Amino acid sequence: MPSSDNPDSQPPASANHESRITNHVPAHLAVIMDGNGRWAERRKRPRMIGHRAGARAVNLCIDFCLEQGIEALTLFAFSSENWGRPEEEVGALMKLFLNALEREVEELDRRGVRIRFIGERERFAQALRDKMDAAEMQTRDNRRLTLSIAASYGGRQDIAAAARALARDVVDGKLRVQDIDENAMATHMALADLPAPDLFIRTGGDHRISNFLLWQLAYTELWFTETLWPELDAATLRRALDDYARRERRFGLTGAQLAPSTNPSAA
Ligand code: FPP
Repeated sequence: MPSSDNPDSQPPASANHESRITNHVPAHLAVIMDGNGRWAERRKRPRMIGHRAGARAVNLCIDFCLEQGIEALTLFAFSSENWGRPEEEVGALMKLFLNALEREVEELDRRGVRIRFIGERERFAQALRDKMDAAEMQTRDNRRLTLSIAASYGGRQDIAAAARALARDVVDGKLRVQDIDENAMATHMALADLPAPDLFIRTGGDHRISNFLLWQLAYTELWFTETLWPELDAATLRRALDDYARRERRFGLTGAQLAPSTNPSAA
C-alpha cells in the first residue's frame, strides 16, 4: 500500500533500510491537484473561488521545485473527463487558464522554466491554444525546470494515441508488427523525452490515479495527503520528499540486486 502524509507510516530507519533508500530529490514530480472545490464549499463559496486559490498553490509548488532542484514538474490541470463538469465551472476554468498564462509566462520564462502542454489541445478555444503555443515557443530553450501542464489529458487517451501512431507507422511500412514493444510505445507517449515521474503526489484525500499518466507512472512512488490543494504549503511538499528519500525503489528486482546506478545510495 502506498504511504501517505501520516508520520506513523514512515519506516524505522534501520541500518539495513538506510543502505537501500533513494536518498535523493526526485528528478520528476507529477501532481494531481485535488480539493479546490471542497476547499471553497467548506467556506460556503462558489467552487471557482477554490480554483483561483488553487492557482496560487500552483505558484507555490513551482517555487518549491525550483528551490529543490527538481527538474520536471507535471501538473494535472484538467482531465479529458472534466469537460463533463457544469458549463459554468468549465467556462470559469478556461478563463482562469487564459488569465494565468497572460499573467505568469514572463516570470516563469525569466526563472528558466520551460512550459509545455500535454493533452487534446484541439478541444480548447483558439484564443487559449494560441496562448499555449506562444508560452511553449517563448520558453522552449529553458532548462531549469520543465513544467508540463496536462490539459484535456487522459492516460487512456494517451495510450490510444500512441497505439494509433504505431498503427500508422505499420500501414506506412515504417514499422514491422513484430517490432512493436514497450520502447516503441514509449516514444509515442506524452512526456516521451522526460524520465518517468519519480514521485506522484495527490492532494485532497483520495487514493487513486484518475486516468493520469497511466503508462508513465508504472514504477513511480505514490504519495497521498489529506491536504486540499489550495492549502498546500512547503512543509507538506517537504514531507513528501522526505518520505520519498526513504523509499527503496527496486523496479521489479530484489533489494540485493540493486545497482548503484538505479539507487545511488545502495553502494
Ligand atoms: C481538481 O479539484 C482541480 C481541477 C479540476 C482544476 C485544477 C486547476 C487549478 C489548480 C487551477 C489553476 C491551474 C493552472 C495550471 C494555472 P476539484 O475541483 O476536483 O476539487 P474537489 O475534488 O474538491 O471537488
